[in-house]
Amino acid sequence: MIWDLRSGDADDNRTSPYGTGWKSLIFSNVLEFSYLKAALAFLILIVIPALLVGIAPSIVLTYSRHTLVTAASVGRNPTLFVFLVLAALLLLPLWTGRRFVSIALDNYWHLHYTLVFPIFVALREIFRVVSERLPGAYTQERIHRRRRAATVFAALLLGGAGLALAMSVELSVGLKIVDAERVAPWAVARAALGNAAMVFGFSTAITSAFWLWRELSVSEPVLDWPHPLEPAASRFRVAHLSDLHVVGGRYGYRMETGTHGPQGNKCVFDALERLAAIHASSPLHRVLVTGDITDAGIRAEWAEFIDLIGQFPELRSRMSLVPGNHDINIVDRTNTARPDLPWSASKALRKLRFVFALDQIQGDRAHLIDRKSGSLGLSLSDYLRDGERPKLLRALAEYGSLRGTLEIVKVWEAIFPLVEPPSGEHGCGVILLDSNAPSNLALTNAIGVISPTQLRALRSVLNGSPQAAWLVLLHHQVVEYPVLGISLSDRIGLALMNGPDLLAAIAPHAGRTVILHGHRHVDWVGITGETVVCSAPSVTLGMERYRGRFSIHEFAVSSAGKVELTANQRVKISESIPLPHDFERIWPGEAA
Ligand SMILES: [Fe+2]
Ligand SMILES: [Fe+2]
Repeated sequence: MIWDLRSGDADDNRTSPYGTGWKSLIFSNVLEFSYLKAALAFLILIVIPALLVGIAPSIVLTYSRHTLVTAASVGRNPTLFVFLVLAALLLLPLWTGRRFVSIALDNYWHLHYTLVFPIFVALREIFRVVSERLPGAYTQERIHRRRRAATVFAALLLGGAGLALAMSVELSVGLKIVDAERVAPWAVARAALGNAAMVFGFSTAITSAFWLWRELSVSEPVLDWPHPLEPAASRFRVAHLSDLHVVGGRYGYRMETGTHGPQGNKCVFDALERLAAIHASSPLHRVLVTGDITDAGIRAEWAEFIDLIGQFPELRSRMSLVPGNHDINIVDRTNTARPDLPWSASKALRKLRFVFALDQIQGDRAHLIDRKSGSLGLSLSDYLRDGERPKLLRALAEYGSLRGTLEIVKVWEAIFPLVEPPSGEHGCGVILLDSNAPSNLALTNAIGVISPTQLRALRSVLNGSPQAAWLVLLHHQVVEYPVLGISLSDRIGLALMNGPDLLAAIAPHAGRTVILHGHRHVDWVGITGETVVCSAPSVTLGMERYRGRFSIHEFAVSSAGKVELTANQRVKISESIPLPHDFERIWPGEAA
């Protein structure tokens, strides 16, 4: 035999730097990149929202002028007709204004999360890397102080740049108001973009000040867990697995490692088998999987996962999942240069597959939060079967219907955070967050953000249950590990942009809340302020010292909801998951 096809080929290495090397990966990306699609996406994601934000002041001012003119004519000519017109002019904004304001605000936040926030995170991390390289003996507190100083510097620089932009637009052209009565499209577009630049300049300055305040006010040092943990029985036992990266078949390879990494899903099966044995001898209350369940969110991978866990019904009935970037943000597993358009059916299908898996595994246990009252709402399975919804979702699954695509966007926004309430005394409830930033290309697929709507709902769950203990699950890491030498690409490309917002929401409830995440493929338990943070390694990928492992945590939960980490067992699944040597990066924890 010249070549054994079962051991993979060049196609399996197309997305892995270990197969083809970085240079050829970049070269093929430049060639494969669809510039037409990128231009369209730029227009839809950046230019149109900017136009909407920029044109809003003109519409508001022109409308107010009309209302004033009508009001003045009421004084001169008080007929019933003019009174009615005035009443309509005053009532109309109250009626339709909320919708208009909410569209403008959505576009504004969308632009901030797409443009401004990533720039802030990139600047902050560059300064942090520089600050950590300055000479000096390092303790974890010292790393923390240097990182804070770098944050201050980044916020001041970005805020200053925002002010400079706003001032320069005002000084050169002034605040351009477009006359809505005599519309000339190009003039409107130019003026709207000018307005948008000014709005963004000022708002960047203001939000930089906010981020600075946020990071300084909630940022406690991030420390390794201080004491050794002893095994203890009869506590709340939780298995924490992450980043399974399930592939579509027994000969499949993973995007990150190509043929240099594990093939098929035997490693995942081994992990579940090991976990089932642990559960049989010492029962677990929950099995938590913090995202990247599949390698690229394709149907065959989900089918494999459902089949795998079907063999372990005891684990499945306790399992909770959150979505990772590999589950919903990988546009094409064989071509990292391919961008996605916002209305793409395959993007909608990736979300749909995750929702179907959630429904199958925990649909009856997980509840939505009622957005109005902030209390526990319908179960996921009832919500998904409400009215026309099943028909629309089935149409999306069957033939990628546009109505189904629009429906899954609504569903996705409505369901997170999902809540599994605590069962019985001395138990923890589980809150599931979606921490994936919207992404349309490979470069930004792994960046995270938690939407303001989710943060609001999270706060109302925590405030509304003062006696309950909660495990908060998300895919992205909330705080950077307290070690030196973490690569800039990991710090920026894998960051949860608004980690401090999540910490601020949890801080008032820190003694009864534990955060669990995956994503970085690193095994770490630590603490920031009073909040315990558990980072799970990957069952299949990552550095030699972490991969092929999962954790069992034990928590003591008091009747007042106080939760304490009492024990932790790291389980190594197998000795033989192969990965290339150059995959190892230096983990300079020992240097700290
Ligand atoms: Fe992962
Ligand atoms: Fe990830």
